[in-house]
Amino acid sequence: MTEKKGRVFSGARPTGRQHLGNYLGAIKNYVALQDDYECIYCIVDLHALTTLETTENLRQNSYEMALDFLAAGIRPEETIIFIQSHVPEVTELHTILSMVTPLGKLTDLPTFKEKARQQPHNVNYGLVGYPVLMTADITLYKANIVPVGIDQAPHLEFAREVVRSFNYRYQTNVLIEPEMKSTELPKVIGIDGVQKMSKSLNNHIELAATPEETTQRVMQMVTDPQRQRRSDPGRPEVCNVFTFHKVFSPADMVAEIDVECRRAGIGCVECKQRMAANLNQHLEPFRQKRAEYARDPNYVWDVLRDGKERASKIAKQTMIEVRQAVGLP
Ligand code: TRP
Repeated sequence: MTEKKGRVFSGARPTGRQHLGNYLGAIKNYVALQDDYECIYCIVDLHALTTLETTENLRQNSYEMALDFLAAGIRPEETIIFIQSHVPEVTELHTILSMVTPLGKLTDLPTFKEKARQQPHNVNYGLVGYPVLMTADITLYKANIVPVGIDQAPHLEFAREVVRSFNYRYQTNVLIEPEMKSTELPKVIGIDGVQKMSKSLNNHIELAATPEETTQRVMQMVTDPQRQRRSDPGRPEVCNVFTFHKVFSPADMVAEIDVECRRAGIGCVECKQRMAANLNQHLEPFRQKRAEYARDPNYVWDVLRDGKERASKIAKQTMIEVRQAVGLP
């Protein structure tokens, strides 16, 4: 194997079956990074607890998400994929890091303020410590690269500060200051044509949907609101269906639709049908793999157990060094 450029770590909340927004915004990048980096991908179930009202779907959601990751091309022979709580050292490191974390910094973070606004009935302690736990994730596995969306930038900056404080306070270099690798992928708009694609808004297209369901969702997509009649000229630059064409259709079709939509040479129905066909073709290998892996329900759990074992080895070693640096007996 060729020499890798460093270690990547990223965490994703167990949100169950993944959709096109997850795929284009994160998973696709996770898959690509495997070529150049040693990768560790973590299903952050402890983080999920900070916002969950009920945990009854946690297990199933973790399973479905891991299955989607594997079907999308995460290679468990090289990459470590595991569940956060399976390696409990992270909670110990979280506690130790909390001692070098100024409380005011946590409560000032825009991400905390937003969550507190969203769930005023449940502003729990874990929500405040969320970025400390995230810092523990990254540093426990000595990752130097963290691929995340731009919304996580304040958390990464926070993590870097905590690492510097820790290393300074205990005069050590056991913790590595991570670098953010911003995924400059555009945010994927849902079928409503307005809001970011998300399961909670039910404006999403699931990766694991059948071709028929996928086509049905595409046919519901909101197009250029100014184009009300088939004979009205359209504006591809404001149409979400066109955005999807640019991702999933061949260049000559994209060029053709760009021209034909503007002069009402093609209607929205036909335009969507063509996009749906390309999308379905694109997802076919994913669906085949997913079905294959799902045939043996133990497969995903075996992969996650193996990931846990490999992650544990790294975690245990780091904690030996951390306890020594801190001076814990
Ligand atoms: N906070 C991240 C999110 O909400 C999830 C996360 C947890 C994470 N631990 C991490 C991301 C470590 C990167 C690295 O999306």
